[in-house]
Amino acid sequence: MNSLADPRVADLLSHLHQEADAQRRLIRERVASLATEAPGPEAWPHHLKDFYLPVSREQGRFLYQTVRATGARRVVEFGSSFGVSTIYLAAGLRDNGEGVVIGSELVEEKADKARTNLVTAGLGDHVEIRTGDARVTLNDPGGSVDLLLLDGGPGLYLEVLQMLVPHLRIGAVVVADNIEESVADPHPYARWVRDSESGFVSNSITLKGGTEYSVWVGKRDQD
Ligand SMILES: C[S@@+](CC[C@H](N)C(=O)[O-])C[C@H]1O[C@@H](n2cnc3c(N)ncnc32)[C@H](O)[C@@H]1O
Repeated sequence: MNSLADPRVADLLSHLHQEADAQRRLIRERVASLATEAPGPEAWPHHLKDFYLPVSREQGRFLYQTVRATGARRVVEFGSSFGVSTIYLAAGLRDNGEGVVIGSELVEEKADKARTNLVTAGLGDHVEIRTGDARVTLNDPGGSVDLLLLDGGPGLYLEVLQMLVPHLRIGAVVVADNIEESVADPHPYARWVRDSESGFVSNSITLKGGTEYSVWVGKRDQD
């Protein structure tokens, strides 16, 4: 069983990725102008409300693989946008036999569109998208979490992760997108999860310019 090959899923993903690809030049221009106008980072999601900003096709397949490999049942997602990553995750859960993605999206119109896309893909039964600030809406994920995708503003990753750590099962996987760094200048989020005191074992993987892959192994005093 591979729901990524299901025509409802494959056709919709192909369409959404194509629409996102077509926005690339416009996004670069918009981000550059936002950086000059310098509104606070909290305003950016609303200024970028028409843009997909999705995971890449390779990241999406990797998320599907991870859901299948871990036998995940409960997945949490920080930053759902129009639901592209959510579709890959929900497809994996359906093929695992059951499960739910708890998504989160600050911009209401985007959350509505994501829900519609999941229904169009035939995956609506495997998704609950919560509208609002993930630092509030994901506070209670409703059970033990097998996989967490961090794909909202990278400046908030640590706060969202630390809020969810008490809900991670041992062996839970955390995938963080947009961790762009250099040896001389490691990303603060990556520096934190790579410290063995954090309770994670973590590595950068070469997907879309910087994806951090972390496994929750627990803190020593929890053994
Ligand atoms: C990079 S996009 C997510 C892309 C999505 N994962 C996909 O693959 O289609 C980041 C999204 O996070 C949302 N976001 C930013 N800050 C947020 C917050 N505090 N709570 C919830 N969503 C937030 C933005 O509105 C934006 O849609």
